[in-house]
Amino acid sequence: MHHPPSAGMVRPWNPPVGRFGRRAAPEQDANMRDRLLLLALGTLWLGLPGCSSTSEEDPPEEGPHYDGGPVSWHRDVLPILQNRCQGCHTDNGVAPFSLETYDQASGMHAALASSIQARRMPPWMPAEGPHRFRDSRRLTQGEVDILSAWSEQGAPEGNPQDTPPPREPAPPLEWTDLTVGPAVPYTPKDTAADDYHCFLLDPHLERGRDLIGFEVMPGVKQQVHHVLLFAAPRKAALARDAREAEPGWTCFGDSGVDNESLLGAWAPGSPPTRYPEGTGVSVAADSVLVMQVHYNISQRSTEPPQGITASDVSAMHGEARPDLTRMALQFSREPVAKPASLYALVDGDFAIPAGATGYTHHAKQYVPAGTLWGVLPHMHTKGRRITVEKGGDSLIEIPAWDFHWQQMYFYKKPLEVPLFSQLKLTCTWDNPTSRTVRWGEGTDDEMCLAYLYMTE
Ligand code: HEC
Repeated sequence: MHHPPSAGMVRPWNPPVGRFGRRAAPEQDANMRDRLLLLALGTLWLGLPGCSSTSEEDPPEEGPHYDGGPVSWHRDVLPILQNRCQGCHTDNGVAPFSLETYDQASGMHAALASSIQARRMPPWMPAEGPHRFRDSRRLTQGEVDILSAWSEQGAPEGNPQDTPPPREPAPPLEWTDLTVGPAVPYTPKDTAADDYHCFLLDPHLERGRDLIGFEVMPGVKQQVHHVLLFAAPRKAALARDAREAEPGWTCFGDSGVDNESLLGAWAPGSPPTRYPEGTGVSVAADSVLVMQVHYNISQRSTEPPQGITASDVSAMHGEARPDLTRMALQFSREPVAKPASLYALVDGDFAIPAGATGYTHHAKQYVPAGTLWGVLPHMHTKGRRITVEKGGDSLIEIPAWDFHWQQMYFYKKPLEVPLFSQLKLTCTWDNPTSRTVRWGEGTDDEMCLAYLYMTE
């Protein structure tokens, strides 16, 4: 369907997992090795490719710098909060209170400063490593310094004439072809704090198309905590949908439909997903989409910070409200030049002992040669840390895993992965329960998985 396979490339890249997070059968892994071996024998040997992942030299930091002088709300602080906080800290946003006015922010300046100094806020999981990610939410040192100085100086207001123009929302996708969503609103179950619900969305494709971008439009923003998007075979997905009376079905981690493939993930405050230029993921004509929405009702794992009064906090323990979350899809007009696969790195052999803290397990896996554009690490709620390495090179490190903020991370500069590259995936968990925890799809099971967004 796309351009013919070029010599020296493995096609197609069937991921070794049949489903999001389903354990790779050992023989499939062996298959992959065999294919790589065959490929090497059949290819004119041009010498061992060198390790091509070089660290990027640090570009000069963009954004504001702190000059050591007095700072004010209107001139220095509000512009940073507009860019960095108000995507979530707005009325009816995903965050429990808004940071839009001087009164709101000055009343809690100490809590604000401590949250950014500890890098809890804005939520952004990857550590600074040799490879930088697109759309990073991580504050620059200049921004941290200015917000810290403002708090130390007693949160001065300054001159209202310095007020910047209101925040501009993230630019939408240039165009979208289709908006899909459940036919009727869904009211999340509020018997527990979290409800994971899968919706079948039928794009009614007449032919296979390359998805190049998508945008999630959350219905009740305080409730919608993250979204995973899958493509799944139509028949199997319809059968799964029919098993429960209400529209959609309860699911966790993956879609619960065999032979699904992951298309992407979304967390609140993220701009629309645009796959890297020239790349896209093909969606077959007989596929439907499955959108898994993680609803969080109580939503608050922490007490409101000091300086925040109950009336400032929007619905601390909200009631479940009917939600209609929708997605807009962007398809390529022409087949994309570089079709992408989401290749799964899997560690499925762990057994986390009851009561363990910091239990660590790793797996090594050969991956096809090609270009690595992005990575989506995945664990469940007992996960604490996850890393992907190639030799000594850290491709991603998430030192403090938070299930709520999982998303796909695209590199600013894609990485070349030479033949015979072995990647190492390492996970660390805490297991406060009294049973051994193993791989599985349930909320009480765990996973250790990283999807690699790759092209040939
Ligand atoms: C992507 C969404 C998002 C962005 C962006 C964001 N926050 Fe938050 N913030 C949240 C959510 C959600 C909570 C509630 C977390 C909880 O209670 O578990 C929160 C909680 C907080 C808290 C109280 C809890 C704590 O960890 O101290 C502070 C203070 C805070 N945010 C400050 C900020 C500041 C300052 C910025 C910008 C520099 C910011 N946040 C950007 C989503 C966001």
